[in-house]
Amino acid sequence: MRLEQQRREVVEACRSLSRSGLVVGTAGNVSIRVDDLVAISPSGVDYEAMSPRDVGIHDLDGNVVDAVLAPSSELALHLAVYGSSDHTAVVHTHAPASTALSTIVDEVPASHYYSALFGGVIRVAPYATFGTRQLADNVATALRDRSAALMGNHGAVLAGAALPKVMNLVPYLEYVCDVALRAMATGARVRVLDDAEIAEVGRLLAGYGQQPTGQD
Ligand code: 13P
Repeated sequence: MRLEQQRREVVEACRSLSRSGLVVGTAGNVSIRVDDLVAISPSGVDYEAMSPRDVGIHDLDGNVVDAVLAPSSELALHLAVYGSSDHTAVVHTHAPASTALSTIVDEVPASHYYSALFGGVIRVAPYATFGTRQLADNVATALRDRSAALMGNHGAVLAGAALPKVMNLVPYLEYVCDVALRAMATGARVRVLDDAEIAEVGRLLAGYGQQPTGQD
């Protein structure tokens, strides 16, 4: 089976999102790009029942290369991200705090320093109907130079160089949105970090934790 390993990774990621409550039912979708091919979750298939064979392979124009099921209704969105960035993995969630925040702001307030994990202030893509070209364009624009964006009145999208890295970021985005929401819900003035501090933290986080010593 073509891109078998990637198809397995897509299934595992979908199950993980579902089990973590970051999507409800069959909401959300996941894809991986390998050269000119994209492995993407099928539309509306129960994640626990999904098999690697159900994950279709499409080219960058959306043509079927190897698929037994209809692709995610957000195939155009995934292709728009690949067409406008170097990202090679895309995850779309309906995580509750991210989704709630997407209904009230145009960008995520930098109320926590983890905002720096995503390449700068996290934008909210204007709402458009799911599965449309307009939504795909709005999301690709909001993701420019970022690894995450919210989708107005819909959910969140994250992208990066490898699916495990993107999946690691998913709970951090939800945490940042949850913190912002809780702070805003008090009605008190929310202190936010300025762009210079976010840029400095971004530099620090790039070297955070255990780094290779060169002796491994
Ligand atoms: P699919 O099941 O077609 O991927 O749609 C889920 C979704 O979240 C649409 O935005």
